[in-house]
Amino acid sequence: AAPTRYEAENSPAVCTGTIDSNWAGYSGTGFCNGNNATGAYAQFTVNASAAGTATLGVRFANGTTTVRPASLIVNGSTVQTPSFEGTGAWSTWVTKTLTVSVNAGSNTIRLNPTVAAGLPNIDYLDF
Ligand code: GCU
Repeated sequence: AAPTRYEAENSPAVCTGTIDSNWAGYSGTGFCNGNNATGAYAQFTVNASAAGTATLGVRFANGTTTVRPASLIVNGSTVQTPSFEGTGAWSTWVTKTLTVSVNAGSNTIRLNPTVAAGLPNIDYLDF
C-alpha cells in the first residue's frame, strides 16, 4: 500500500524547536527546525496495520557539510543511528529510507540527535 505521510508540523508530531517555512520545497505548511542541541528531537506517532518490518521515509534537509546523526528510537528503544548528510542546501530535501520493526497499532518514532548541532530540518515521515 502507499505510505501515509506524517508531517512534522502536524500534531501529534513533536518538534523540539520551531516549525519554520523559510526554506522552499517542504511539504505541507512547514518543517521542524530542531534546536541546535543534542537530544532536541522530532517525534512522529504512526499507525501500523500489522506488526512486522516497515519502511520509513524521512525527508530532511541539511544545508551544512557536516553530518547530523540521530538515534532512531522506536517505541522507546534505540534501533539504529542513521546519519543525515549534507544535502547541499537548506532548500534541497532528500528522503532517507530506513527499515524498522513495529507493533500493530500506534508506534512512536523519534529522531534524537546525538550531536550538538542537532537534527537536520525534518519535513515529514512516510510510513
Ligand atoms: C540555519 C537554517 C535553519 C537550520 C539551522 C541549523 O539557521 O536557516 O533552517 O535549522 O541553520 O543549523 O540547524
